[in-house]
Amino acid sequence: MESSAIAALRCSVCAAGVTLDGRTLRCARGHAFDLAKQGYVNLLHARVPAGTADTTEMVAARAEFLAAGHYAPLADAIADAVPSGDGLVVDAGAGTGYYLAAVLDRAPGATGLALDVSAVALRRAAKAHPAITAAVWNLWEPWPVADDSAAVLLNVFAPRNGAEFARVLRPGGTLVVASPGPGHLAELADLGLLGIGAGKEQRLDESLSEWFVAADRRQVRLPLTLDPGAVRAVVRMGPAGHHLHRDGRAERLAAVSSAVEVTAEFTVSVYTAKEKP
Ligand SMILES: C[S@@+](CC[C@H](N)C(=O)[O-])C[C@H]1O[C@@H](n2cnc3c(N)ncnc32)[C@H](O)[C@@H]1O
Ligand SMILES: [Zn+2]
Repeated sequence: MESSAIAALRCSVCAAGVTLDGRTLRCARGHAFDLAKQGYVNLLHARVPAGTADTTEMVAARAEFLAAGHYAPLADAIADAVPSGDGLVVDAGAGTGYYLAAVLDRAPGATGLALDVSAVALRRAAKAHPAITAAVWNLWEPWPVADDSAAVLLNVFAPRNGAEFARVLRPGGTLVVASPGPGHLAELADLGLLGIGAGKEQRLDESLSEWFVAADRRQVRLPLTLDPGAVRAVVRMGPAGHHLHRDGRAERLAAVSSAVEVTAEFTVSVYTAKEKP
């Protein structure tokens, strides 16, 4: 765990600062959180609704798909959107840490904090880059992270808590949000991948407008040839993976036997924080 990430973490019970004592994070009031042997710390103490965290199977599919490099140009676009600097980069809903690692690769002095409710995903995030500290947390609860501690906030296909983004991001900091674009993997709709509605970007800006001003937006369009294994991985790694039992989808997915041409479409949106009241 990096000392600058520990300095930014707060006790999730009482919000006091924490220090690392051996393999335990402790606050001055005696609340303690042990590091898992896989290197992440679990700060949760309340139940999280079933179905919130990515499952072991989804995480394995995501890791396999990302490791094949299909979305590497998106990782580049996200890293391009991050201003250079040495501060703390918080990835809200970091999953396996793939995009956070890509950002840190380009910023040797920076530190990463991966937050996700899936401990299975964070086992991988904790190993994705030496500068990543990984903490299990539910993003819909107040984050165990200090005010104004992050230089950059990443949010890649994950829940968006605008009030907490604004509280944690330091003045002048940058928020980078990646979301699926209008035609994203439309070719795989019959395998249960959800269509992306038009006007999504405007809704994204509106949902953040209390705290953030849109500064830049880039579309990333990736024509991909996916072999059957990659098709199965891309379906299983997302929400569609939960619903394969519906109307023969699992059978159709198993029956894919040749490569499929698809287009992945993403929007990378960059925001600057409004002045805090
Ligand atoms: C579609 S995945 C994206 C993961 C990663 N950003 C990526 O693109 O590889 C969504 C992630 O959000 C996490 N997640 C969902 N709800 C969450 C919550 N309430 N708090 C924290 N993480 C959450 C899931 O566990 C999952 O890792
Ligand atoms: Zn405490």
